[in-house]
Amino acid sequence: MTTDNRNAESALTEQVVAAFADTPDPRLRQVMQSLVRHLHAFVADVEPDEAEWLAAIRYLTQTGQMCDDVVRQEFILLSDTLGVSMLVDAINHRKPGNATASTVFGPFYMAGMPDRAPGEDMALTPGLPALVHGYVRDTDGRPVAGAVLDVWQTAANGMYSGQDKQQPHGNLRGRYRSDDSGYYAIRTILPVSYPIPDDGPVGRMMAATGRHVYRPAHLHFMIEAPGYRTLVTHVFNAGDPYLASDAVFGVKPALVLAYSPRASGTPLAARFGFGTDFHEGAYDFVLPRAPE
Ligand code: BEZ
Ligand code: FE
Repeated sequence: MTTDNRNAESALTEQVVAAFADTPDPRLRQVMQSLVRHLHAFVADVEPDEAEWLAAIRYLTQTGQMCDDVVRQEFILLSDTLGVSMLVDAINHRKPGNATASTVFGPFYMAGMPDRAPGEDMALTPGLPALVHGYVRDTDGRPVAGAVLDVWQTAANGMYSGQDKQQPHGNLRGRYRSDDSGYYAIRTILPVSYPIPDDGPVGRMMAATGRHVYRPAHLHFMIEAPGYRTLVTHVFNAGDPYLASDAVFGVKPALVLAYSPRASGTPLAARFGFGTDFHEGAYDFVLPRAPE
C-alpha cells in the first residue's frame, strides 16, 4: 500500500470521528467515536474484500433473525461465545476481596418461578439426586437472612424447562430463601454438561473455527437481599471435562464445587427425605453490601 493510500484511509477515520464531535450527550460521543476508531482499525487490519464484507453483513442479519422474544437471543449468545459477556461482567463486578465471584447470566433465566420451601425438591424429572446447601453471609461473615436464591439448571437431557416444551412448568427452577442463620437448602438432581444452542449463526461460527459448544455442568444462582448487591453466578461441578474450555468462558476457580456421594439411611438423608443414595454439595455465598 502506498503512503497516499494509507493517509487517505486514516483521514477517512478522522473525518468520521469528527462527524460525532458535536454529539450533545458526552457518553454517547465517547462511545460512538471509540466505536468508529476500533471498527475502522479492525477493518484496516483484516482488509476484507467486498464479498467478505457482504458475508459479515449477512451473518449479523441472520443473527438478528434468529432471535425471538422468549427464549432465543442469538446476539447474547454471540457476545457470550466471543467472551464479551464475561468482559462486561468483569468490568461491572470488581468485587471486594472475599465476595463470591459473579459469572454470565445466560439466556435461560425465567422470572416468576415457584417459591420453594427449604430443602424442597425442584426436580420434576429424573436424574442423580443431589442436595446443594450452605450459608449466605456478608463480607464480615454475618448471616444474611431472607436472601432470595433464584436457581435454575437443565434437566438430565441438557435442556432447560421453557426451552424444552416437554418439561413441566417450573422444572428445576425455583426461589429458595435463607433462614435467620443464613442457611439455605436445595434438593435437586446433579447438573450435567450441555451444548449451547448451535442451530444458528453462533453454531456455524463455532463449527467453522473448530470450537466445541459445551458448557460444564452448573447450577445457576441469582441471589437478592435488601441492602446487598445482587449476585448472578453459577456453581460448577468439579471434575467436569469442560471446566477448562467452557464455550462462554464463564468458569472461575472459586465457583467449582466438589459433590460427595452420600448413602441413604443417614440422618442427612432422612432430614431431606432422600430414599436413595445422593450427592451432597456444600457451598457458601458472600454478598457485598450495596453502594449507599
Ligand atoms: C447458560 O448457562 O444457561 C448459558 C450461558 C450462556 C450461553 C448459553 C447458555
Ligand atoms: Fe446454564
